[in-house]
Parts: sequence; C-alpha cells; structure tokens
Amino acid sequence: MTLAKKKPETNDATDAASATANPMRSHNVISELEHKRDRARDGGGSARVEAQHAKGKLTARERLEVLLDPDSFEEYDMFVEHRCTNFGMEKNKVPGDGCVTGHGTINGRMVFVYSQDFTVLGGSLSETNAQKICKILDMAMKVGAPVIGLLDSGGARIQEGVDSLGGFAEIFQRNVLASGVVPQLSVIMGPCAGGAVYSPALTDFIIMVRGSSYMFVTGPEVVKTVTHEIVTQEDLGGADTHTHKTGVADLAYNNDIETLLQTRRMYNFLPLNNRDGVPVRPTTDPADRIEMSLNTLVPENPNRAYNMKELLERIVDEGDFFEIQPDYAKNIIIGFGRMEGHTVGFVANQPTHMAGCLDIDASRKAARFIRFCDAFSIPLVTFVDVPGFMPGTYQEHNGVIKHGAKLLYAYAEATVPKITVITRKAYGGAYDVMSSKHLRGDVNYAWPSAEIAVMGPKGAVEIVFRGKYANEEEQQKLIDDYREKFASPFVAASRGFIDDVIRPQNTRWRICRSLAVLRKKNLQNPWKKHDNLPL
Ligand code: HXC
Repeated sequence: MTLAKKKPETNDATDAASATANPMRSHNVISELEHKRDRARDGGGSARVEAQHAKGKLTARERLEVLLDPDSFEEYDMFVEHRCTNFGMEKNKVPGDGCVTGHGTINGRMVFVYSQDFTVLGGSLSETNAQKICKILDMAMKVGAPVIGLLDSGGARIQEGVDSLGGFAEIFQRNVLASGVVPQLSVIMGPCAGGAVYSPALTDFIIMVRGSSYMFVTGPEVVKTVTHEIVTQEDLGGADTHTHKTGVADLAYNNDIETLLQTRRMYNFLPLNNRDGVPVRPTTDPADRIEMSLNTLVPENPNRAYNMKELLERIVDEGDFFEIQPDYAKNIIIGFGRMEGHTVGFVANQPTHMAGCLDIDASRKAARFIRFCDAFSIPLVTFVDVPGFMPGTYQEHNGVIKHGAKLLYAYAEATVPKITVITRKAYGGAYDVMSSKHLRGDVNYAWPSAEIAVMGPKGAVEIVFRGKYANEEEQQKLIDDYREKFASPFVAASRGFIDDVIRPQNTRWRICRSLAVLRKKNLQNPWKKHDNLPL
C-alpha cells in the first residue's frame, strides 16, 4: 500500500475559517484551536525540552520527524487531556497528555505510531494516553498496518493508581491480539521500567538506544533492598545488557537519530500485515549472478572456521543484509535480506563462534525469528554448518531439551517456502532441526563440502570402535574411513534428503529460482485452536 503525499493540513486555521458561518465565533474557536495546538506542541515546556536535549535525547515530536517521511504524519487526539484530580492534578494538564499518536509513512508505506513525551509528567502512562495508544493499535489492526512505539516513560502515572494500571493491561491485550496480524516494533528511547516493559516484550522487535535507554522490571534501588546487590541502571537493563546478555532487545544504536534511521531501514523489509505478502523493491542485482568467491569460502581443513556472514552478504541483493540480534547467541545468525527484490528471512549457523553449535540461546533466538517470518509469509533460507548441540551440564540443567525443541518446532510448523543449503557439517539432531527435508524443507541443497552424519568422525569412531584399535594410527585410519563414507553429501542425496549438490558459485541463482517456483506455495497445517509450543 503506497500512500500519496499528504495535502496541506485540512484541520488548520484557514480551512476551518472558511467552513464556519459566524466570523466572530469562528475567530474565537480558531484562536483556541491554535492555542491548544501550540500547547500540545510545547509538551512539558521549554525547560523540560532543554533537559531532554541535554541528555542527548530528541523530543517525542522530533523523533517522529526523523522516523516518518516528511509531511506524512497525521496526528490523532492532540486535545486529549487526563481526568485525574488526585494531588492537584487538575491543574497539571497538557493537551495530548504526554503521548503523541497517529499515522504516517516510511518510504510511502503506512505505519501507525505512538511516541511518549518524557517532558510531560515523565511520559508516564495515564488512563487517557493509554486510550490513545489503544486507538492506534485498533486502527492498525483494522487497516492492516504495522505499529511502531517510541517509548520514553516513567511507567504507570503514579497519581492515577489503578486507572493507569488498567491502561497498561488494555495495551497488553491489544499487543497480543495484534501479534502475528501486523508487525509491532518497540523502540526504547528512555526509561522503560516496571510492568511497562511487558508491552515491548509482547511485540516483535525491540530496538534500544545506547546510554539513554534502559528496561527492567525492578530498578537498582529495589534490587538493592531485596537482594542486596549493587548494580547500575546501565548494567541492570541498559542497551548492551539486553542485546548481549539477555537477548530481550534485538538491536542497539548509539543515539536517537541513528536508531530511528535504522528502524526505517528495518521497516522496509517488513510486510504490512499477515495477508499482504512481502514488499518487493526493484533491484539491479541480477538473480543469476555467479559468485566465484564462494568456491573458496569453506576451508580445506574441516576444523577451521569461516565467516558465514560473508556468504550471506554475497548472496543477497546488493549485499544488503540486515542482521537481527548480532550481539546475542553469535553462534547463529538471523536477519533479513532480499532475493530478486523480495524480502527473505535468513538463518545460518556461524562457525566462527562456538563452531556454530546449537545451544539454548541460539535455539530461542532462531525459533522466534522463524515464527515471525512464518506468521508474515516471509520465505526462509537456512545455511547449515552445525556440529551438533552444545554438550555440558549448563546446557542440560538449563533445559536445552525444551529450548532446542522450540527451534525444531518452529521449523516444523512453518508453512512458508523453506530452502536449505548445507555448506559443511550437518551432524546429529542438529541436521534434523536445521530445516531438513524431514521437516518439510521444500528445496534442500548441499555444497560438495557437506558432511552429513550422526556425529563427527572422531566421536563416531570412539563409540563404534571402542577397544578395537590398538593405537592412534589405527584409530586415525578408522576416522579417515568414516569420513570417506559419511563426510560427503552423496549418502543423503542418494536417499533424496538432498535435492541437489550444487557448486557454491551457483548458490544465489539456485535459491532465486527455487524461491520463484515456491512463490505460490500453498501448505496448511491441520486445524487447531492454537498450538502448544514448548515454552
Ligand atoms: C508520574 C512521573 C512518573 C510517574 C516520572 N514522573 N515518573 N510522574 N508518574 N510514573 C515525573 C517526575 O515527577 C518529574 O516531574 C518528571 O516526570 C521527570 O522525572 P524525573 O524523576 O525528574 O526524571 P529523571 O531524573 O530522569 O528520572 C526518571 C525516572 C524517575 C527514573 C523514570 O522519574 C522515576 O523513577 N520515576 C518513577 C518510576 C516508577 O516507579 N514508575 C512506576 C513503575 S510501576 P517534574 O514535574 O518534577 O518534572 C509501573 C507499573 C506498570 O509502571 C504495571 C503494568 C503491569
């Protein structure tokens, strides 16, 4: 859906004046209108705006200007005011009540937005500004357009008590109903604490600003009182904590402007809703581009690493790969790219990190991404180089069984086109999990360097031939025999588990052609109320 550029405002002074019969009365209404608009635009006043700028932060309205196409923003509910009378609040009203809401466009595609204004009562959530957010969530659902929230808030408006808490829950309910219907992005640009964190957590992607945003359920003071731990705001819930350690946030950038520009870039990859299909961007990159450099990407020595990101960047249109969660569970890569102009979701093991092993974090990271892609009809392309699941008590005691099952589940339930390329190792359960033929992979390719087996040659020999070799030399011979037999794609190909063994240089055009064939794929899972994903 591409929108025409907005005409000059229809609800401004000149239009309203010509539409009103009584010139005297209209003059009063118009000046009141303008006065109220100015009050709303001023937010919490110049001192608080300066304080916001002094922290390196833009105001709620400035942020929308960066996020949206010029002149595309149409604001709703500019005159909404809170109704609280506790603690003298009736004297503390700002039109709009600390949250700017409406819709606009990003590169001509529609998006609904809300932007919390920290200069008005710390951007705190009131009953009324919660209603504003709910209104745009409802509208977005009706018309099928994504929602981007810019969060900068002290949480529930303390003076309002349960009215504010109710407002939060109304938003949560809508976040859940909108999940899988329209993409929802949360950009954390200041405080986000207490129960307020659960709205972003329910949305599809969280983007944070380094140094000025944080998210936690209870802040450092409460932590100190309850657990006697001393921790800074930044360590507890800053952008680096959430993008490196917890995986709660997907991306972090250095300042407001970079964050908003990258949010625009990410938005360009996303479908508008779950029925619209992926956006298509014209490209000059030929679908049949041969990429000779891929022939030497995988080292001769099977124990040497190579950077899977290089493969992704050489495969996608114009090298434009948008990685999600680049700093979390680096043993697996997820992100968006385009093939022949169409958005594709990529999942790939990363041999440079933990040899590309699957573990708890990697499984959760990839599973959630796969489910997002499946919900919004984004085809999946998977590159496999995986020696198996990570062994150890940490993994077992923290539930790698359940978490690994999430990844398996996500691939198995996905009905979007699924293309898999095994570049090197595909061992054990991880072979099955990584979009194998057996999980309804549509087209499964292998490079000649692929090794598909129950486990690596050394481990296999140690189990199968235990006590049957006298020295290291004999053991090595058995390892070499095993490698000869299994460390190739041909056993799997002879069973039809691999559709073709392809030269690395041809990977892009083979994938493009398969995606074109699968564009009309129609596959449905059996009817159910909902599934029971191993949470
Ligand atoms: C009303 C609030 C507010 C709030 C801040 N303000 N938070 N007003 N309700 N929740 C007001 C302040 O009184 C102040 O007003 C202005 O916003 C700026 O706040 P400062 O404290 O001066 O700013 P700063 O030093 O940057 O500190 C920001 C802050 C702090 C860390 C967010 O304000 C703070 O701790 N606020 C309370 C956070 C909190 O406990 N919220 C409730 C969480 S529980 P003036 O007039 O002086 O400028 C929750 C439950 C949700 O949210 C449950 C959902 C399930």
